[in-house]
Amino acid sequence: MAKMEVKSSLLDNMIGVGDMVLLEPLNEETFIGNLKKRFDHNEIYTYIGSVVISVNPYRSLPIYSPEKVEDYRNRNFYELSPHIFALSDEAYRSLRDQDKDQCILITGESGAGKTEASKLVMSYVAAVCGKGAEVNEVKEQLLQSNPVLEAFGNAKTVRNDNSSRFGKYMDIEFDFKGDPLGGVISNYLLEKSRVVKQPRGERNFHVFYQLLSGASEELLQKLKLERDFSRYNYLSLDSAKVNGVDDAANFRTVRNAMQIVGFTDHETESVLEVVAAVLKLGNIEFKPESRVNGLDESKIKDKNELKEICELTSIDQLVLERAFSFRTVEAKQEKVSTTLNVAQAYYARDALAKNLYSRLFSWLVNRINESIKAQTKVRKKVMGVLDIYGFEIFEDNSFEQFIINYCNEKLQQIFIELTLKEEQEEYIREDIEWTHIDYFNNAIICDLIENNTNGILAMLDEECLRPGTVTDETFLEKLNQVCATHQHFESRMSKCSRFLNDTTLPHSCFRIQHYAGKVLYQVEGFVDKNNDLLYRDLSQAMWKAGHALIKSLFPEGNPAKVNLKRPPTAGSQFKASVATLMKNLQTKNPNYIRCIKPNDKKAAHIFNESLVCHQIRYLGLLENVRVRRAGYAFRQAYEPCLERYKMLCKQTWPHWKGPARSGVEVLFNELAIPMEEYSFGRSKIFIRNPRTLFQLEDIRKQRLEDLATLIQKIYRGWKCRTHFLLMKKSQVVIAAWCRRYAQQKRYQKIKSSALVIQSYIRGWKARKLLRELKHQKRCKEAATTIAAYWHGTQVRREYRKFFRANAGKKIYEFTLQRIVQKYFLEMKNKMPSLSPIDKNWPPRPYLFLDSTHKELKRIFHLWRCKKYRDQFSDQQKLIYEEKLEASELFKDKKALYPSSVGQPFQGAYLEINKNPKYKKLKDAIEEKIIIAEVVNKINRANGKSTSRIFLLTNNNLLLADQKSGQIKSEVPLVDVTKVSMSSQNDGFFAVHLKEGSEAASKGDFLFSSDHLIEMATKLYRTTLSQTNQKLNIEISDEFLVQFRQDKVCVKFIQGAQKNGSVPTCKRRNNRLLEVAVP
Ligand SMILES: Nc1ncnc2c1ncn2[C@@H]1O[C@H](COP(=O)(O)OP(=O)(O)OP(=O)(O)O)[C@@H](O)[C@H]1O
Ligand SMILES: [Mg+2]
Repeated sequence: MAKMEVKSSLLDNMIGVGDMVLLEPLNEETFIGNLKKRFDHNEIYTYIGSVVISVNPYRSLPIYSPEKVEDYRNRNFYELSPHIFALSDEAYRSLRDQDKDQCILITGESGAGKTEASKLVMSYVAAVCGKGAEVNEVKEQLLQSNPVLEAFGNAKTVRNDNSSRFGKYMDIEFDFKGDPLGGVISNYLLEKSRVVKQPRGERNFHVFYQLLSGASEELLQKLKLERDFSRYNYLSLDSAKVNGVDDAANFRTVRNAMQIVGFTDHETESVLEVVAAVLKLGNIEFKPESRVNGLDESKIKDKNELKEICELTSIDQLVLERAFSFRTVEAKQEKVSTTLNVAQAYYARDALAKNLYSRLFSWLVNRINESIKAQTKVRKKVMGVLDIYGFEIFEDNSFEQFIINYCNEKLQQIFIELTLKEEQEEYIREDIEWTHIDYFNNAIICDLIENNTNGILAMLDEECLRPGTVTDETFLEKLNQVCATHQHFESRMSKCSRFLNDTTLPHSCFRIQHYAGKVLYQVEGFVDKNNDLLYRDLSQAMWKAGHALIKSLFPEGNPAKVNLKRPPTAGSQFKASVATLMKNLQTKNPNYIRCIKPNDKKAAHIFNESLVCHQIRYLGLLENVRVRRAGYAFRQAYEPCLERYKMLCKQTWPHWKGPARSGVEVLFNELAIPMEEYSFGRSKIFIRNPRTLFQLEDIRKQRLEDLATLIQKIYRGWKCRTHFLLMKKSQVVIAAWCRRYAQQKRYQKIKSSALVIQSYIRGWKARKLLRELKHQKRCKEAATTIAAYWHGTQVRREYRKFFRANAGKKIYEFTLQRIVQKYFLEMKNKMPSLSPIDKNWPPRPYLFLDSTHKELKRIFHLWRCKKYRDQFSDQQKLIYEEKLEASELFKDKKALYPSSVGQPFQGAYLEINKNPKYKKLKDAIEEKIIIAEVVNKINRANGKSTSRIFLLTNNNLLLADQKSGQIKSEVPLVDVTKVSMSSQNDGFFAVHLKEGSEAASKGDFLFSSDHLIEMATKLYRTTLSQTNQKLNIEISDEFLVQFRQDKVCVKFIQGAQKNGSVPTCKRRNNRLLEVAVP
């Protein structure tokens, strides 16, 4: 969708009128009223045609934001509400697009906002012009020149805390694309008297305070300064601090700005040294000294300050001291030196300070120009911004006011000239008949001041150059003679009798009727100030300085270039520079900003009507409006005009196809606007009276309302219709859904009813079938039953005779079954304990169950034994295995056996590990010891016994001495062939050895032991496990043993006992050994 472009206009939402040209009726009262109304609504800008009136708001308004810049960018001048940006944009665009050099003339009295306006213009242009690193650097340098110049050229005055004490004109240069290239600044007439003296409530130039507040201790020391303002005679004390101004911070800003602009560190340092020197000059004081020849002479009171100044500036102290004491006048190759009295010395000191400072200021401007000048030689387009002091009327007006007002007079003239010229040019351009306009031309006042032969400035110069005594009074006399008849000159002393009795006009004054009002000038000081005299001795002393900057400031001090001609006077210098300025301005397209100060208190929201009235008068603003309105008050290009009013006529609404001009013609005809009220230019319509315009606006407003109603009506109708159509469509959808839903419901109901009926019928049918089937079944069953009964009766009748024969057997079996059942059930309750040695067993109930009962007892015993065995650990199992082995070997064979059953088999009865006596024995045996026990070895020869340690290991049988533990014999188990013993209750046993083996050399062994059963068992088991052969164990009361070569019979005799219950042994002969057993 194409974006709808809404054309706005200055006339929209206007507060009062945005353009004074539209003011009806036009008089001072309505003019001020309009300004006030707009001011009260924060509209500080108002137009007079293309001139912008700016009323100082004395507070920051949110109307300078980057968004605002965007709003005003590339918009027509009258499209938006009045703004300084609109003027800046217009000027910049016509510079860029139409190649017209521009100048922006900002006027107004002190504190009206000129400097702020000039900065706003510059910042707007900087914001909208080209971008890029190089361009940005140029912009930054141009903008940063402001803080530097303000620090040195601005001061706090009673009217303005940041009053510009010099006039400034800055040319900003652009290339063909509209990108800034550089700039040139011109300065006018710095108010240098401020350096040495300030009126009450005012300050010296900012830089002095900034330096003392913001410089580091180190810098102050270097400049030989102290931070205390009161130390310096040139600094007024009563307003050293300005509210809301941070001098120290500003000092940093200024230094930073100087750096950006391109000052080297050395240059900055030099500048500050000059500032310090000026400050210190003020502290030099003189005292009178009478000479013998009667002449007054002065002497410096305290030379310390002088010394420091000389150190700072590298001036020979003697030279400077002399310059303060003597004055050399050169005339006709003659040099005459006269001494200075105290007053002259002070005059010389102050003149030096003022000159130093003002020349420093000019140097600064030149230095900035050097930095910001355009680097290329291509043709440049120029936009000049003039921020110059406005018209001044004080109680005491002196030379400065005279000069300033002269400048304003010139500006007013150029304003009138250019405005009229522009107006006339526009009429010619638009082919409209030019009507003569009456206006006050102030050229006559300019002439009074600047005329080369009898102008006031020429008179003053003449007086200054005239030989003989020249005073302010002689100058006034001369004026009275020459200008007396001028209608704008008034003086008591003039020949014109009009003022002879005018008491408001003192004798030492003259009055000029400026275009902006009458101003009374005190003639005192005119001559001096115009002369602006600096004694040559001082300028020469300065030239001799080692300080390069100071030296360069006083070129006339160079003796080689002595110029006896007087330097141009201040007045003529100023006149010349104003003339150059005017020439410059005349070549450019002017844009005016007229600044107005709403009150004297620097306060926001206060609008002092009488003050404003005064300014409006001397700025000639009403005049301005009249000029603008003389022919036609309002003009507008055809396109925007048609665009704005096309709705007032049927033919042009909503679209006009033809050219805009004919559209406007049709429109105006249709509206029946009287012919004399307007005129058609080439590109614009000219409206004579604002009233006509307002009528048009009223009709438009009414028409807009009607149109709004129409649009509203159509819109509402459309909205209702769409709403209705939507409702209708929705209704159809809803109805369809409802019907469908109802049908669905009905269908479901019918379906479920059908199902119910269906199920009833089916149920009924099924039940009927069931009944039939049941009936059939019952019939069948009845037949079967009857048949069964019949068959039963038949069979019973048949079998009755067999029944009696089997009855006894059946009853017996049944009874037996019952008894056995009962037996088992009772047994269950009478079971003995699970201990294997428990011998209890319930008595047998029936004889016929005897065998069963015994079997049951056996099974139960086996079962509990198993249970008992299952609890054994491996260790226990081994023990029982051994015991079992013993029982298998000896039970019922040897009488000794029963007594061994209860003894546990311990094996190692002798603990040879623990007994240190057997340590050697233990070390000798590496294998596991199975038996270690003391046995009696029977002597083969006599049957006596000796104690021996009997050791059985896995593979060997060892005999050791009981006392010493020494091994006596060692028999490998493989060599043991048999063990023999009696069947009696004794512990004797013989160990038979394999014939021919090494161990068998002495013959078989015969032992007696308390643990025979255990030892034999273990020997048997060990042999079996090691050799896999069953050891032969012979149990007999008579057996043969091999003692060396002899076979000896061992015979056991029972009961043949002599010494108690211990068995004894006796060798009877070679062939017999008898053992008596109790
Ligand atoms: N547009 C503005 N918005 C806000 N404050 C403003 C504006 N214009 C001026 N002022 C205020 O008014 C003060 C004085 O303005 P400015 O220094 O521009 O006056 P001036 O006309 O240059 O005076 P002088 O002739 O003494 O130099 C400013 O310091 C600022 O506080
Ligand atoms: Mg200013």
